[in-house]
Amino acid sequence: MKAPNPDNSSAATGSLNKKDTSWSGRFNEPVAALVKKYTASVYFDQRLAAFDIQGSIAHAQMLGAQNIISMDDVIAIEKGLSEILQEIEAGQFEWLLDLEDVHLNIEKRLTDKIGDAGKRLHTGRSRNDQVATDVRLWLRVTSDQVIAGLKKLQISLLDLAEVNFDTVMPGFTHLQVAQPVTFGHHLLAYVEMLKRDVERFTDGRHRINRLPLGAAALAGTSYLINREMVAKTLGFEGVCENSLDAVSDRDFAIEFTFAASLVMTHLSRLSEELILWSSPRFAFVDIADRFCTGSSIMPQKKNPDVPELVRGKTGRVYGHLTALLTLMKGQPLAYNKDNQEDKEPLFDTADTLLVTLEIYADMMRGITVNKENMRQAAFEGFATATDLADYLVKKGMPFRDAHEVVALAVRHAVDEKVDLSELPLATLQQFAPQITDDVFAVLTLEGSLQSRNHIGGTAPAQVKAAIARARKVLG
Ligand code: ARG
Repeated sequence: MKAPNPDNSSAATGSLNKKDTSWSGRFNEPVAALVKKYTASVYFDQRLAAFDIQGSIAHAQMLGAQNIISMDDVIAIEKGLSEILQEIEAGQFEWLLDLEDVHLNIEKRLTDKIGDAGKRLHTGRSRNDQVATDVRLWLRVTSDQVIAGLKKLQISLLDLAEVNFDTVMPGFTHLQVAQPVTFGHHLLAYVEMLKRDVERFTDGRHRINRLPLGAAALAGTSYLINREMVAKTLGFEGVCENSLDAVSDRDFAIEFTFAASLVMTHLSRLSEELILWSSPRFAFVDIADRFCTGSSIMPQKKNPDVPELVRGKTGRVYGHLTALLTLMKGQPLAYNKDNQEDKEPLFDTADTLLVTLEIYADMMRGITVNKENMRQAAFEGFATATDLADYLVKKGMPFRDAHEVVALAVRHAVDEKVDLSELPLATLQQFAPQITDDVFAVLTLEGSLQSRNHIGGTAPAQVKAAIARARKVLG
């Protein structure tokens, strides 16, 4: 007998419609139209369709191999699902809101096509382990796309670094001219960051690549299933070893979004630099016109829209990370409908990241470098002051004293409106009598660069070696 529903007033809300959904048998009234819309995910989870079908075929094959369903049923299911995939790919599939999500839409269509065999597909399975499987299959492919995108961007940065292996620019700390570096060396800093990003996605992929199917709703299933077989068919590295965990945690999706957030952080910093460098005040680089827009009112303007948007979209991805962490934090085990909210942030994170990587690789190929302006900026900023201090140390002066001497020399040069390298030897000797003619070799920008000749240093020879190492890793 049906237990009375205290919230129900079926007389007022219309008659019971048992055919309404796959689970309506238990209910006394149909779901309100607005609730149907509110709880449906088919608008956005239909992009999982191909993975849902892939998972279902593997599940059906296992059910057949274990004699849980007949081989005739398996053949009918495989055929039906392949046709459905074609319908979806051809844009002919009719997605129904009434059927809530991607899983129920496909299952209903299968049953319409092949009858009872279609109804047997869901044996030993729940949408809870099904959706977790679909998301993992999708995220595995997506991780591979991200890794490929990161590598493409690394190559484009390496190409720019290569032609600028000895291009002098001021290196900054506190955005004040600090010491000369090469532009190639500066770009290689980003290649390193992206290298760690590749590592993060590669590592996270192992945790994505585990099979939830078999967990069923939450506790496993009483059928004699073979999870290892399904894992093998789907190319998973293993099965999720606890059914409650398998259906409920989305840590792999959070990790992906975190790794994406870090990539965006790195690109946001580079964007900030491109915005500064392309400003006429710096005029270090020019961004190709196809990545910029003009102003509708100020005819002289060329705005670096793409880097600005990357900086802006970084906030959007951080938002998704916060959303996913928050989504998870209050949920008791095991599956809760909250988890349906994992998809939009995750999908948008992937979409934002992939398009950003693609556009960035192209944008870096379109950068022109104004070497003269970079050099001039390094020259004007007393960038070789540390080199003079180091020179004095090598002549026997304690570093703290050398620091003080050079500070006085810089003050004098500021007053004279010249660079340290432009002060006459006699003047320099007034600050420190140890200074001899050989000082000018270290006071030049090239001398300063060349002296930092160790792994990780900015010397042009080191930049070349670092590029070669990076290219070797990229293959
Ligand atoms: N659309 C659901 C989701 O995205 C599928 C799982 C629903 N399971 C359930 N018992 N309501 O999470």
